Amino acid sequence: MVLPLIKPVHISHAKSVAQSSADIFVLIVDESDIENSKLLSPELIALDAQTNEVISTLTSLGDFEGKWLQTSVSLLPNSKIASRILLIGTGKKTTHSEARARAIGLKIAEESVKLKSSNIVISGSSKTLKNTSNIAQIAFGMSASIYKYPNSNMSAEAKSELEKPFIATLVSDAKGAAEAIQKAMIMASHTEVCRLFQDGPPNISTPKFIAEQTELRAKKLGLTVNIYGAQKLREMGFNAMLAVAGGSAQEPQFVVVEYKPAQYKKTVAFVGKGLTMDTGGYSIKTPAPLQMNMKYDMSGSAVVLNSVLAMAELKLPVRVFAVAALCENMIDAHAFRVGDVITSYSGKTIEVLNTDAEGRVVLSDALSYTARVLKPDYIVEYSTLTGGMITALGHVAAGVFTFGNDTLAKSISDASESTGERTWPMPVWEEDLDGVKSTIADLQNLGTPTGAAQSCAAAAFLKEFTEDIPFAHIDIAGVADNNMGIGYPKKISSGFGIQLSIAIAEKLSV
Ligand code: BES
Ligand code: ZN
Ligand code: ZN
Repeated sequence: MVLPLIKPVHISHAKSVAQSSADIFVLIVDESDIENSKLLSPELIALDAQTNEVISTLTSLGDFEGKWLQTSVSLLPNSKIASRILLIGTGKKTTHSEARARAIGLKIAEESVKLKSSNIVISGSSKTLKNTSNIAQIAFGMSASIYKYPNSNMSAEAKSELEKPFIATLVSDAKGAAEAIQKAMIMASHTEVCRLFQDGPPNISTPKFIAEQTELRAKKLGLTVNIYGAQKLREMGFNAMLAVAGGSAQEPQFVVVEYKPAQYKKTVAFVGKGLTMDTGGYSIKTPAPLQMNMKYDMSGSAVVLNSVLAMAELKLPVRVFAVAALCENMIDAHAFRVGDVITSYSGKTIEVLNTDAEGRVVLSDALSYTARVLKPDYIVEYSTLTGGMITALGHVAAGVFTFGNDTLAKSISDASESTGERTWPMPVWEEDLDGVKSTIADLQNLGTPTGAAQSCAAAAFLKEFTEDIPFAHIDIAGVADNNMGIGYPKKISSGFGIQLSIAIAEKLSV
């Protein structure tokens, strides 16, 4: 099997607007560039002169005020730049967050697609174009908007349309703009594959498929890949992961990718939950619509696997492991039951009180292996672990639970700030740690029977398998798909976590 086809995206940098064969000249404009609907900023006046005074005409008519994501399209006759002009507003804010810059990128690409254009030049008077971090996010946002999971039943015409690249030139005289765009495009290309894995249906985006595709791509970058299947996992004693995978016809896959630069100071292991489908098992998810988005339960794995590839391509000065525990939570005679006691890889026993709390069970083996065998300086783990996370933070931020290290917590909040991938710190109290102790085993996979603070209980459970290595658990249940935050495409995978992981690794590298 091969990866589904998606539209290629090429975004390059230019220092000034030149003659071009673009279809659309996009101008990003701040509301403060247009005063009293008539007075334009000097920069906008210069652009107005280059564009047959279309801008001043539109603003004096009151058709365009530069409001947040306001757009206006006009013809641009006799222009050497493009045949149409698209104005896009950024509103009143004097500075723009990374998420807002990404939203501008999303909107530009969305409007270009509506206008059936795949060749655009972007410039403008907005301050957003003076800030390299914002410029990077505009480029990233465009790529995120162009991405669509393809229908395999495509007409030849639709297919050839898909093969045609979307080309954009971002004009900015900011120092470092070219490098920022280049880095953004590397992150964007790995985010696309992350999202192909995420949006892939569970009968296609299986543990094997994800493992094989990752191996192919990792080898091209010269990385070390180890894939452990059912037989090997039995020999290794991965009984917790095997228990969850027991009811499925899909073979579980435990994938470890290593990126080791010639010189590094620290090693960071990124671990991901990889349930390619979570039916809930015998504690079945009811009503049935609750199962609908559970193909996204592998998002943690998709994020860590693609992040390490991006880090390798970006040549970060830090040694990184991506550890993915891929399997499926299904029902049959071999499925694990409520009441089972499992001896995990760590030796700790786990009493299963709910087969739908399977993520923490799978992760227990993945985390123990990471801590004992890979021995990193830090462990950062991503999972769509609990519905409670959506109750707490909705669909706009991931919850972060950190243990044993202020540097780690600080690096994550700084990384979140610099990438606009929103996170929020969550607590784990000693009561939560006590709450996951079982009466007949070491641990139980539920906190209180009533389900109170399940997100915290889940984090407390995971901590037991980290051998006191500084550890962060990032619950992405609310943001992996259906992300409602500014700067994310709606009703589809988000790829949330790739930019964040890269920034975390950069911060932890010293
Ligand atoms: N994969 C789910 C969590 C989830 C729910 C992710 C909704 C995204 C959207 C997880 O395996 C699960 O079912 N958790 C249970 C735990 C409970 C039984 C303690 C939950 O959160 O309801
Ligand atoms: Zn579950
Ligand atoms: Zn799950």
